[in-house]
Amino acid sequence: MAQLVGAITTSHVPAIGKAIARDLQQEAYWKPFFDSFPPVHSWLQQARPDVAVVIYNDHGLNFFLDKMPTFSVGAAPSYSGADEGWGLPVGLPFPGNEDLSWHLVNSLVADEFDITTCQEMLVDHALTLPMKLLWPKAEQQGAWPVTIVPVCLNTVLFPLPTPARCYKLGQAIGRAIASWQSDKRVVVVGTGGLSHQLDGERAGFINKQFDQQFMQSLANDPLWATQYSIPELVEQVGTQGIELLMWLTARATLSGVGGGGARELHSSYHIPISNTAAGVMLFEPAAQPVVQEEALAA
Ligand code: DHB
Ligand code: FE
Repeated sequence: MAQLVGAITTSHVPAIGKAIARDLQQEAYWKPFFDSFPPVHSWLQQARPDVAVVIYNDHGLNFFLDKMPTFSVGAAPSYSGADEGWGLPVGLPFPGNEDLSWHLVNSLVADEFDITTCQEMLVDHALTLPMKLLWPKAEQQGAWPVTIVPVCLNTVLFPLPTPARCYKLGQAIGRAIASWQSDKRVVVVGTGGLSHQLDGERAGFINKQFDQQFMQSLANDPLWATQYSIPELVEQVGTQGIELLMWLTARATLSGVGGGGARELHSSYHIPISNTAAGVMLFEPAAQPVVQEEALAA
């Protein structure tokens, strides 16, 4: 059986792509953010994942407002970025893992998640930039070290899936990975957030206190965020800060598989990048759930 080796969560602000393209990682503005990744790089070297399941939200590149699936899964041989208007270079395409894609599609539908299956899928900055952050040398070397399965959650057009639903989706993804007949090692990546609002009266809104409570909850009480409705969460973290649902989903992949839970290995928080509070977390599976409810919720 495949092994779920861990889950990584990160922000995905387009300006990160400009900083990488211009080699600004050591400049004062960017250093605190880029300095939060070497511990994750060391862990990746030792964890040696073969496949990354990347949970992210599209911002209008692959899905526009005319057709908006709540949950979608890529099942393509390869995934490319494209010009989104941010002025970012389009990088090396990502090789898909079609075997895991179809297993995940079958497993999620059997688990009563009515997902959209995408045999063609453009991937935007929410997938491409975290890949560059996690494997910064891959493009120079001419190959990504992992194949990928994109899982896309709608956070753009209301109504949005509730935090509780996203948690259950994460658990179902975790079960699917654990039941994949393969010797591959799988890492889950969740991208978005933390608090930010790009438009309207509250443009520039950031909520450090809530972000930090949310990050702590992922380590100590992963069901905590499921108490909130979408409007309550938007109030706390901003319209686009709702992207933290991707972190919740990614963390939930480690909840309940074999009755287990997750141990936090790394956590970092920095304000701001562009308009966004940026964070990075890394979790490894743990034999014991952090709270009893975590196992019960599986
Ligand atoms: C910004 C943040 C995002 O999450 C995004 O998708 C686009 C822009 C920003 O802070 O600039
Ligand atoms: Fe975003």
